[in-house]
Amino acid sequence: MSVVAQAAPLSARLREGTRAEHAEAESEGFVERLLAGDLDVHAYADLAVQQHAIYTALERAGERMRHDDRGRALVFDALTRVPAIERDLAHLYGPGWRDTARVLPATEQYVDRLRAVGGDLPSYAAHAYTRYLGDLSGGQVVKRMLQRHYGLSVAGLEFYTFPAIDKVKPFKDLYRERLDALALDAAEADAAVAEAQVAFRLNRAMFVDLGVAHP
Ligand code: HEM
Repeated sequence: MSVVAQAAPLSARLREGTRAEHAEAESEGFVERLLAGDLDVHAYADLAVQQHAIYTALERAGERMRHDDRGRALVFDALTRVPAIERDLAHLYGPGWRDTARVLPATEQYVDRLRAVGGDLPSYAAHAYTRYLGDLSGGQVVKRMLQRHYGLSVAGLEFYTFPAIDKVKPFKDLYRERLDALALDAAEADAAVAEAQVAFRLNRAMFVDLGVAHP
């Protein structure tokens, strides 16, 4: 695995620094079974409940980051997910979805972490990168698999749809440029890469809990 120099752009360091964690999260049993069509739509709905808790905390941190002179450049309305997830949950569970939604212990830990560090720029950048660039990358693969295997088309999958982003590739490039332009110092950049590794591990732990709930 290539080690990216400390002076490399933040986006490159985040990508290289999380490559191993990405492979582990991607190959978690629950993810593989869900994408292979071996589970049912309830397993996806349960994942959506967990993602609702995570994005609620992430986007609260984003609102705070709008007041940060450096950080506000990384907060995009086009990426906001919570309203879309809530429409998905209403489609998947009905209007009373909040009564049936159960946030799993690993997700609680993830939410606690976001609450604890989300206001700090390197940490916010790490968590936002991990989720939003992931949704714009592998998330599009996940969407197609959910459409193929679980009878979902548009309704219920709005989380994976970004109506305000015309072309994904140029937007991902812009996002990486904004990461690089944050001008984090060496210690801040190291902290961001370490936090992104934590973020991937928290996602993996959430998949482990979901795997137990959906064997
Ligand atoms: C569910 C199974 C997953 C699949 C099939 C998948 C697939 C992919 C693919 C194909 C890319 C694009 C790689 C490239 O541009 O060369 C990617 C990038 C990415 N994925 Fe995943 N992924 C998965 C899970 C995850 C998870 C769980 C996370 C974190 C929560 C994640 C976060 C990311 C990020 C941050 C990137 C952007 C890397 C970069 O360009 O810097 N992925 N993923």
